[in-house]
Amino acid sequence: MKHYLSVKDIDSLPDWVSEARKLKSNPRAFEYLGKGKTICLLFFNNSLRTRLSTQKAALNLGMEVMVMNFGSEGWQLEFEDGVVMNQGKSEHIKEATKVVSQFCDIVAIRAFASLTNKEKDEAEVVLNGFTKFASIPVVNMESSVAHPLQALADAITLDEQNTKAKPKVVLSWAPHPKALPHAVANSFVEMMQLQDVDFVITHPEGYELNPQITKDMVIEYNQKKACKNADFIYVKNWSSYSDYGKVLSQDSDWMMTSEKLGNAKFMHCLPVRRNVVVEDAVLDGEQSLVIEQANNRTFAAQVVLKKILES
Ligand code: CP
Repeated sequence: MKHYLSVKDIDSLPDWVSEARKLKSNPRAFEYLGKGKTICLLFFNNSLRTRLSTQKAALNLGMEVMVMNFGSEGWQLEFEDGVVMNQGKSEHIKEATKVVSQFCDIVAIRAFASLTNKEKDEAEVVLNGFTKFASIPVVNMESSVAHPLQALADAITLDEQNTKAKPKVVLSWAPHPKALPHAVANSFVEMMQLQDVDFVITHPEGYELNPQITKDMVIEYNQKKACKNADFIYVKNWSSYSDYGKVLSQDSDWMMTSEKLGNAKFMHCLPVRRNVVVEDAVLDGEQSLVIEQANNRTFAAQVVLKKILES
């Protein structure tokens, strides 16, 4: 495998999940694979889980790790070709990626959507810039439109927790005071398309995700109806896609509660705002899987890095 940029780079989900679960039971089994190799983690945005789990995964595989908060510490990058660089941007993506490629064997990038320019966000200028000009494999640690490491961790968690042949899984929008990207929801939807699940997406009208991603998946605008008899409810906020990047509603009726959760397991990628997105009783209750999901981030990253190192 050359790069891990989206869920579409997974050639066999059952094999990857099974391999991740084996790595979880013996994390250091392939420590020899990364000996003498270095991964560079470049963050254009904040992180807790992605940063620590990807670092942990690389260490489990015997790799050296370099981390840079590029957004605050790196030079401002120019991505356009043929630009006269006489304004604020000091370095072109062409030189930056070629330089980074000399210092490490794999580069992982986090670069969120701006939520102000749909066309630029969908062009994935940072991730695709690195993929185009770097001479080493690139891993997506959350880009403008995708968070495939999170989606793989979620698939591992579902595999561990599911007891049914075809569970009902709900992706529910929840309120949030800030405009958040679509990446987590997009990759979760794509992951559900690889699974044998009864999948329903629920959100207020105006919060439809990119229809090229949701395709013909079921959308139910009544959250209570959508959540009825669910086995897993994945809660996430995202901003409007059609009215790009806008917060159209902060309706607290959409917050996840114990009543709406019923007997379902609760999932969220974290970080989460308590009593805005989900009430305390859910997060503190036994049906919450959020800590297991975060733990599985290590083994999702580890299976990805292992496949890159092996190829
Ligand atoms: N879920 C997730 O990606 O967490 P961080 O933003 O803390 O990395």
